[in-house]
Amino acid sequence: MDIKLAAPPATAEERAAVDELLGPPSGWQGGVESPVDQRVAFGGHAARARRHLLLPTLHAVQDGVGFISPGALDYVCARLTIPPAEAYGVATGYALLSLEPQPPLVVHVCDDIACKAAGADELCHKIERRAGSDGSAHPDRTATWHRSPCLGLCDRAPGAFVQRAGNRATHGEASIAAADAELITGLMAGKPWPHPAPQAIPQVGDPGLRLLRRVGVVDPQSLDSYRAAGGYAALRRAFELGAEGVIREIADSKLLGRGGAAFPTGRKWEAVARAPERPHYLVCNADESEPGTFKDRILMEQDPFAIVEAMTIGGYATGCERGYLYVRGEYPLARQRIQHAIDQAEDRGLLGSDIMGRGVDFTIEVRRGGGAYICGEETALFNSIEGKRGEPRNKPPFPVQSGLFGKPTVVNNVETLLNIPDIVTAGGRAFAAIGTPESTGTRLFCLSGAVGRPGLYEAPFGLTLRQVLDLAGGVHGRLQAILLGGAAGSFVTSDQFDLPLTFEATRAAGVTLGSGVVMAFDDSVDMNAIVLRIARFFRDESCGQCVPCRVGTVRQEEALYRLAGSGSPDDVAMLSDIGRAMRDASICGLGQTASAAAESALRLGLFSGNRSRGR
Ligand SMILES: Cc1cc2nc3c(=O)[nH]c(=O)nc-3n(C[C@H](O)[C@H](O)[C@H](O)COP(=O)(O)O)c2cc1C
Ligand code: SF4
Ligand code: FES
Repeated sequence: MDIKLAAPPATAEERAAVDELLGPPSGWQGGVESPVDQRVAFGGHAARARRHLLLPTLHAVQDGVGFISPGALDYVCARLTIPPAEAYGVATGYALLSLEPQPPLVVHVCDDIACKAAGADELCHKIERRAGSDGSAHPDRTATWHRSPCLGLCDRAPGAFVQRAGNRATHGEASIAAADAELITGLMAGKPWPHPAPQAIPQVGDPGLRLLRRVGVVDPQSLDSYRAAGGYAALRRAFELGAEGVIREIADSKLLGRGGAAFPTGRKWEAVARAPERPHYLVCNADESEPGTFKDRILMEQDPFAIVEAMTIGGYATGCERGYLYVRGEYPLARQRIQHAIDQAEDRGLLGSDIMGRGVDFTIEVRRGGGAYICGEETALFNSIEGKRGEPRNKPPFPVQSGLFGKPTVVNNVETLLNIPDIVTAGGRAFAAIGTPESTGTRLFCLSGAVGRPGLYEAPFGLTLRQVLDLAGGVHGRLQAILLGGAAGSFVTSDQFDLPLTFEATRAAGVTLGSGVVMAFDDSVDMNAIVLRIARFFRDESCGQCVPCRVGTVRQEEALYRLAGSGSPDDVAMLSDIGRAMRDASICGLGQTASAAAESALRLGLFSGNRSRGR
């Protein structure tokens, strides 16, 4: 393959960032022209086999230099033997990577639904007045800011995320909760970063907690603390049960996936365990980007060893020797805590080779997302790890047959996996006795907006919407609507307060639990602006691969804008047609759910003409 290197070539700084990750170029790697035929030859198969390092390498350039220049992209392509057009396609799919020059400090300010309801637009206007418009550089050209979709800080809205490019000593990232204009423009002007605000866990210490029982109690940075709280008893028990025994317990537990699709975990594990093709992979989906969702971030930040233990049990039961944890790019603390837990577990013989002296090998690699909602879709996530553009694949084949690198793959959400240690120690039947017959166990709910105490709550399946709201101190003010399940979910009103929040009851009511979002809007909130923001979210996040979703999300937003003004009944009919086309003909769940919230808002009279058009 010929790769044409464009001028100007990568700078020394850009090359250093790439070489620090990939090692120094050897032989012809790195694009030295052959004196024989003026071709640029590379490491052939060996270099191509490193394609999966594309996203980490792009991150390395972004972190080091602040953006990815054409010369830097060419250098990455030369080192990994990737056609530049493909690498360009990959890099442009991620919001945290910039192919345009930008200042070293970038603040991403969330203006998504929970933050909008908490005044994010006023915040953005203030920042604009002090530091220039969205995307423009600060006068001294050291900082800029962007509006961002949800950053997983909805319980402490408005949220922000800051990236500072530089070398090992100066590079940094941080999440900022309860952001205000003074803080953000101060950061942009070079003021020191604030210490992260502690995460409040409203139910801390409640004896009824299962999934959250260690959160806020156990030191998330100490393996000893985790073990003192019973950690790693489940892995020991798993070895006693044997791989088949573990899968039997998971099947008996009737655990359903918590990532949105509610697929039985036991069936998934069994299919991979039985697949004759090798190797098998286990992937923990920690990309959590559904607006309104912050549960997986808190679990990773506060209980990282439990996730590592759960993945190790999964790897053992399904015959995987390698696991990946794909964590959202905007979650720096979660990434750091998980990596620390992996390192500690490896040091103590609880991960790696010959785990606990049982002859079992399993390793976990952390992969960092780049800011793309679609990469939470399981097959887009595989493509992202493989160094391809984060686009969903057609199914079948399903991941259990042909997943990561084309091999049988278990993919599970963080919350799903966190149930595993308890199922293994207490037994599947004991787990199935909690909740309802079809929705077993407990569920995490992300409560935000107009409730007394926003935050993460755990409750057994079966509580009604009203009871879950009561956990958080009930609705504040006069309720307009509740968004259930996230942007991909639907609005409901107080008429649905008695709806049990189970998979079966929500399905029967035509709504969804999704990722556990319960976001309340009081009558101070402009619901048109919220619905339009959801429409913009789907338009921005559609990968564009299939026509119904690529065109439908744009047309949907346009029709909603018209309706918010003086639209006609034709627009209502058109929205319904677009929704049907997206549901029926889109490749993946993004397109299939992109119209649900808007349609429910129209149905409930939450969206009306001659009112605000949001932004
Ligand atoms: C657009 C889109 C985004 C998704 N994002 C996530 C995510 O961030 N985390 C997650 O666990 N599942 C997400 N999913 C669902 C995954 O495709 C998959 O069903 C899930 O990871 C399987 O794990 P589970 O069986 O444990 O739920 C998403 C699906 C779609 C269509
Ligand atoms: S439905 Fe949308 S996001 Fe999913 S593959 Fe099609 S274009 Fe991409
Ligand atoms: S952090 Fe802003 S909506 Fe979630």
